[in-house]
Amino acid sequence: MSRKPFIAGNWKMNLTIAEGVELAKAVAAVANDAPTVDVAVCPTFVSVAKVADAVKSTALMVGAQDTFWETKGAWTRQIAPNMLADAGCQWVIVGHSETRGRFGGLSEEVQAKLAEVPGYFGESDKSVNMKAKAIFAAGLLPIIACGELPSEYEAGKTDEVVAGQIRADIAGFTEEQAMKMVIAYEPVWAIGTGNTCDPQTADKVCGVIRNTVKEVYGEKVAEAVRIQYGGSVKPGNAKELLSMPNIDGALVGGAALKAADFAGIIEAAK
Ligand code: 13P
Repeated sequence: MSRKPFIAGNWKMNLTIAEGVELAKAVAAVANDAPTVDVAVCPTFVSVAKVADAVKSTALMVGAQDTFWETKGAWTRQIAPNMLADAGCQWVIVGHSETRGRFGGLSEEVQAKLAEVPGYFGESDKSVNMKAKAIFAAGLLPIIACGELPSEYEAGKTDEVVAGQIRADIAGFTEEQAMKMVIAYEPVWAIGTGNTCDPQTADKVCGVIRNTVKEVYGEKVAEAVRIQYGGSVKPGNAKELLSMPNIDGALVGGAALKAADFAGIIEAAK
């Protein structure tokens, strides 16, 4: 089965509203010229509505970087999936390593500081799963991120860690939902570090993810589901990564902040 490549930019905590709108307009022009590729950008919560409004008649889709599992109520700080739908989102990233408190590209000093505030970034597989179900219920689609820590990679535990995350993260979806979910494999040691996972290894782990989806939902869903690779994807390495059989797209951080770089990655997916 052929799967449509999906390139998504995770802007993380970058860009003002005006900068985001300007970048999104430039990316939308590229997306309009790439009908064989799905393209999305994921701005900060405060920029989502303005960015979505600016690109609403284009091929560019918009996503958010997280959400909560309830729809309304006394939940200070939280944003519900239906609010994101109202703001013009189609996608929501959940389980990003930076929300799970699993950091790659930060200095040891910063990681030590973050370790002093346990629970602050406390995403778990259970909360990822609850959020994904809430995302579907609001008519949106999740990009479910997973990936191993440097220590887990060095201990040879990548396959086990990633399969365990995915098994818990995707439990209890309907078949129709599971077909439409997107999974992003982001080895934590490759995020923001410039150390890209080599394409063969990335493909192997994406294959482990596809097999895990097959165990849970069967062959049809496993063949349909799109799996992105993320971690220091750039125009120069995108083509090789995207040519691998189990890699159906990319979740891009740093290189999604410059229109020309992101355009180069979209071009590589054509
Ligand atoms: P970089 O592309 O900056 O390594 O970030 C990857 C990422 O975390 C996307 O979600």
